[in-house]
Amino acid sequence: MPGNNHKSRTSNKVMTLFVCFLAALAGLLFGLDIGVIAGALPFIAKDFNVTAHQQEWIVSSMMFGAAVGAVGSGWMSSRLGRKKSLMAGAILFVIGSLWSAGATSPEMLIAARVVLGLAVGVASYTAPLYLSEIAPEKIRGSMISLYQLMITIGILAAYLSDTAFSDAGAWRWMLGIITIPAVLLLIGVFFLPNSPRWLAAKGDFRSAERVLSRLRDTSEQAKRELDEIRESLKIKQSGWQLFQSNSNFRRAVFLGVLLQVMQQFTGMNVIMYYAPKIFEIAGFANTTQQMWGTVIVGLVNVLATFIAIGLVDRWGRKPTLLLGFLVMALGMGILGTMLHIGIHSQEAQYFAVAMLLMFIIGFAMSAGPLIWVLCSEIQPLKGRDFGITVSTATNWIANMIVGATFLTMLNTLGNAPTFWVYAGLNVFFILLTLALIPETKNVSLEHIERNLMSGKKLRDIGQK
Ligand code: BGC
Repeated sequence: MPGNNHKSRTSNKVMTLFVCFLAALAGLLFGLDIGVIAGALPFIAKDFNVTAHQQEWIVSSMMFGAAVGAVGSGWMSSRLGRKKSLMAGAILFVIGSLWSAGATSPEMLIAARVVLGLAVGVASYTAPLYLSEIAPEKIRGSMISLYQLMITIGILAAYLSDTAFSDAGAWRWMLGIITIPAVLLLIGVFFLPNSPRWLAAKGDFRSAERVLSRLRDTSEQAKRELDEIRESLKIKQSGWQLFQSNSNFRRAVFLGVLLQVMQQFTGMNVIMYYAPKIFEIAGFANTTQQMWGTVIVGLVNVLATFIAIGLVDRWGRKPTLLLGFLVMALGMGILGTMLHIGIHSQEAQYFAVAMLLMFIIGFAMSAGPLIWVLCSEIQPLKGRDFGITVSTATNWIANMIVGATFLTMLNTLGNAPTFWVYAGLNVFFILLTLALIPETKNVSLEHIERNLMSGKKLRDIGQK
């Protein structure tokens, strides 16, 4: 019955897209929670009369929670499964959003943001993992970049909603409105199937096959994939033991840590969290101008992510990263120099904004998506869960350090030198990329693993 066949193939495709969309919704929440604080912070600071140091804690408490959440979800997603982990994440998103909106003191807000952080940590570990296990092979790579796209859309949506509520200074609404997508995620997760890979790892091959046959075009395809999963399960996963016993695996874990440190110390989140403050430093005194400037930052971040999606498989990871770090170094460096000289005319103000946007483009076209892509490519199968847990937790710890030190740096070093420090770091990352980062374009994961485990230099593990 070809008609029926066609119908079921189409419905399986729709089902796969629906499943991927729901999982990517977790990326949207990740972005919303990163983005929302920039616009809300000035009003919170006024209401609670908090110091710069307390503001830094309000920003970075979420990152602390996220680091803990990422570590915890490594364990949770292998014990309870990806679906239940996402469900736990969604519940935490709902609780954290409501609690932070109703906070009556800075301490309570910090505690609520730790809960939100736990949710973001679970989402940032589980959602890409689930996507990579559920998506058909052909679209697996683009799924990771699309996940980053959802993060940037979340950040932009948060900036827009912040702007909408800013006239009234309604920071509780800014934080509280995120409850709506969080509830949607929670409802949606009920409809997600369990990951076939996780089911198989638990020995439930029958359910794994049932899920796969709902998500793949033909039952032959589903059977073939299940055979491959069965094959890969013969290699026993043993993250921590492997880490202790195998120095080549330790190198991959080190590389994952380094990649995430590089992503965060570009200084991107300084702008994500403190954009209105930076516009103020650049001479835009009016809050509405600062808010709209921030929205433009969010929009450019979304649009430039498409550059990465287009370049990553054509140019490759390494040249794209090198160009990105160069653009970021120039953006931060020139901005710092302008702050040093003083921004006295309107032209100078707009030029400063252009430099800020240039920095954003540099990040979104390179380190934003590519670091997540590389981190998922370099770990050997046996140590994948462990390696990705460590690199994801590093992302959040480094994120926290950047968020917790920016205002202090401005106050102690001064505005211009703070931006120069980040410019210098980006120059340093160009050198690190040349020395250590592999090119993994068009190479199979098994091949990368073989190169790594045979002791090839890190920068050569992608060689054919
Ligand atoms: C980073 C976040 C950052 C976001 C900005 C992500 O890849 O991990 O820290 O805020 O990109 O778009």
